[in-house]
Amino acid sequence: MCGIIGISSNKPVSANIVNSLKKLEYRGYDSAGIATLSNGKINEVKSEGRVDNLENNYDIKHLEGNIGIGHVRWATHGIPNSVNAHPHSSHNVSVVHNGIIENSTILKKHLINKGYKFKSQTDTEVIVHLITDYLKTSELVEAITKTLKQLHGSFALGIVFKDMPDLIVGARRGSPLAVGYGPNENYLGSDSYALKSMTNKITYLDDGEFCILKKDQVLFFNDEGKKVNKKILQLSSDESSYDKGDFKHFMAKEIEEQSITIKTGIKEYIDNFNKEINIFNFPWKLEDIKSITLIGCGTAYHSCMMAKYWFEELTSLDVSIDIASEFRYRKNRFKKDTLYIFVSQSGETADTYAALDLCNKNNMKTCSVVNVIESSIARDSNFVLPIHCGPEIGVASTKAFLGQILILYIFALKIGSLRNEVQNKLYQEKIKDLKTLPSLIEKTLLLDNDIQAISSTFNEAKGSMFLGRGYSYPIALEGALKLKELSYIHAEGYPAGEMKHGPLALIEEGMPVVVLAPKDSYYKKTISNMQEVIARGAKVLLITNKTNDDVISENIWETIEVENTNNDLLPFLLTIPLQKLAYYSALKKGYDIDKPRNLAKSVTVE
Ligand code: F6R
Repeated sequence: MCGIIGISSNKPVSANIVNSLKKLEYRGYDSAGIATLSNGKINEVKSEGRVDNLENNYDIKHLEGNIGIGHVRWATHGIPNSVNAHPHSSHNVSVVHNGIIENSTILKKHLINKGYKFKSQTDTEVIVHLITDYLKTSELVEAITKTLKQLHGSFALGIVFKDMPDLIVGARRGSPLAVGYGPNENYLGSDSYALKSMTNKITYLDDGEFCILKKDQVLFFNDEGKKVNKKILQLSSDESSYDKGDFKHFMAKEIEEQSITIKTGIKEYIDNFNKEINIFNFPWKLEDIKSITLIGCGTAYHSCMMAKYWFEELTSLDVSIDIASEFRYRKNRFKKDTLYIFVSQSGETADTYAALDLCNKNNMKTCSVVNVIESSIARDSNFVLPIHCGPEIGVASTKAFLGQILILYIFALKIGSLRNEVQNKLYQEKIKDLKTLPSLIEKTLLLDNDIQAISSTFNEAKGSMFLGRGYSYPIALEGALKLKELSYIHAEGYPAGEMKHGPLALIEEGMPVVVLAPKDSYYKKTISNMQEVIARGAKVLLITNKTNDDVISENIWETIEVENTNNDLLPFLLTIPLQKLAYYSALKKGYDIDKPRNLAKSVTVE
């Protein structure tokens, strides 16, 4: 997704802006640009492709100016090229923009009628001309307030002005934006990660607010242009997580880190001494919660699916799940006794945030399971369950998925115990098993060579399928998502029992099919479904767990056995070979593993 950086300093800023843009690269983007102010002019440079292109095409280090804005763009309006790259500038105003201006077509017509000329196909350029126009008759705060009122949609903006060479304006509605404070300089950033390399003192703008940022002062305003006071927060520093170390890719590092993710999550939530799950300050009485709705997008939605199985197994609560982009536009029947749980790694996903906002506006009970605790979703939920897995840089979510399902499992187990639906003996056994999970993950991570070899077959195939039942069904969907997003191979996840209702028609000679069949209560049923696909020529990769029982089937192409544990925890282990399969298949194809095409880490537009 797009990223914004702005710096006002007492020294040249271009090199620092480039470094900060590089920190934002992990979000996925297709062009980049910078504008600085010096000697009464706007110096604008932009390039298609990576920030490296910008550096190769221009002598950035010698771009003059102690004030400037930079942007990485992920195209929404207009193809990714250097003309559509940000900043967009008039003779006086230069703008970088994250988000989408929904009424840009109407505004553009109006501005063209007034004589303004447009150079790009973007929605952003209307902002440039609107501000330029309002500045003819209004002073700065009024011109910004009037411009923002004209814009529909979501945005974060960074704006500089040729005639006001000591300030940057930042504005936020929907898309995140933060201010950072440094010695003799201040910063604007769409992501605390980009700011963290320069400062750990941050203020987040709230929706509707804007700021005027100078090197030694920052003023904040509400949507009416009235000054507001804001708190400065101190961020935790976690720099080592932003380094690949000896790994080729962040994704490889993040897969290998999963035993630590789970160990940390367990340490945070389980009191070893009292053998108890600690969830402090839960703001509601349990008897006031009769049902649960879990909401997320993509991999986070798969975590919601996984949690539904556990909540239904461990409690008698009614549980429903929803994809955030569907939930936000449906005619929902909001119920006071429902707990709405929002799952998100970034905490900034536009659809998930909008679904949360809708629940908040209807005075519902809202809880979030997030990784980035400074994020909008975390800040605006009534209650937060952090997943504590550290920064996840690879676009494909791996350790955050295991982190999310861990916290959701722990939460389900705790509620089941508090409602006396999980008896104390069983509760204790499950906590004991949970504590063995990090070492089981470590062992499962060693399944490397087998998967590397198997991945070639997937790369040669036209398409593939991932099948599972019960607890293994959400993991099958997650495995298919990982393979398609990283290696661009068509991959479908299905409940194994659905095959006869249509998808079986797709099976042909040699098609690779992953069957997740741990030896749980669904095992025999899944094995029957597996036989049906083998009979039609599929090459089956069976993923099961190590037990003393042999697999009761023939003609399986390959078998991978993960470690054994109780049924609740097997989904954690089954996920690992699927992540590795996607990783190695993309590696063999030579694709950009940490930044797959067309995708972004933090999806801040709907
Ligand atoms: C897939 C993936 C995405 C995200 C989705 C939600 O590997 O990473 O499907 O899970 O975009 O993102 P968050 O969790 O940040 O809300």
